[in-house]
Amino acid sequence: MKLSHGIFERHSLILLIGIVIVVSIGGLVEIAPLFFIENTIEKVEGMRPYTPLELAGRDIYIREGCYLCHSQMIRPLKDEVERYGHYSLAAESMYDHPFQWGSKRLGPDLARVGGKYSDSWHKDHLINPRSVVPESIMPPYAFMAERPLDDHNIAAKMKALQVEGVPYTDEMIANAREDLAAQADPTADGRKLKAHYGDKVIRRDFDGNPDKVTEYDALIAYLQMLGTLVDFGKYHPERGDNNR
Ligand code: HEC
Repeated sequence: MKLSHGIFERHSLILLIGIVIVVSIGGLVEIAPLFFIENTIEKVEGMRPYTPLELAGRDIYIREGCYLCHSQMIRPLKDEVERYGHYSLAAESMYDHPFQWGSKRLGPDLARVGGKYSDSWHKDHLINPRSVVPESIMPPYAFMAERPLDDHNIAAKMKALQVEGVPYTDEMIANAREDLAAQADPTADGRKLKAHYGDKVIRRDFDGNPDKVTEYDALIAYLQMLGTLVDFGKYHPERGDNNR
């Protein structure tokens, strides 16, 4: 044993060959099974592509760099699950291009923030985080409160995501701006929006200003949807799905 080990220590080429063999075995064990299982993403009910308004909100989230302080990925560790709820499933970010898992938590994880606060809480918090959380170090985003949402290219964005594999239909893309307006205005006809994205879509005047669709409408619609799509009351971790 001692002798054979000596060979590796004295000859760098043999050491190199040894490393390649060991790493290849490790790689095979890790990678080969992925070729034989059909799908690495759980089949869960409830996942749907984002509505045009949520998608616009997501783009603002990315534009403003919210991901630099907030993750969207609850790890399967006891303290995280107790604080944030069920750990994140791969399926929950399957329509995210790019995904928003993040790698830094200066603020809390936002993967399940949807429904945790009211729309007006979000509005106050975005205008001035210190008004609702006195010790907060989050920067204010008041400038977006009244800024009209620029949705002229929302259909093109959905088209690009369709190419990526997000199941937007051509009809959804053609109706993008109409669906966007219908979600931010509860008095509008929301039947098409619900036919496209399901009955659970939240339709509200998110920013409390009925006169126009602002960037806050989009951002708050996005935040209120996060983590609410999959029904975890029905989720079977051992089967990896939430079908009855
Ligand atoms: C410099 C880091 C930083 C940035 C950038 C940042 N946040 Fe925060 N965020 C925080 C911190 C710290 C908290 C915890 C204190 C608080 O609630 O204000 C927080 C809290 C939150 C909460 C409440 C979460 C909870 O569960 O209580 C939301 C929602 C939120 N941020 C959204 C956003 C959005 C949307 C953006 C981008 C427009 C953003 N944040 C940008 C640091 C940041």
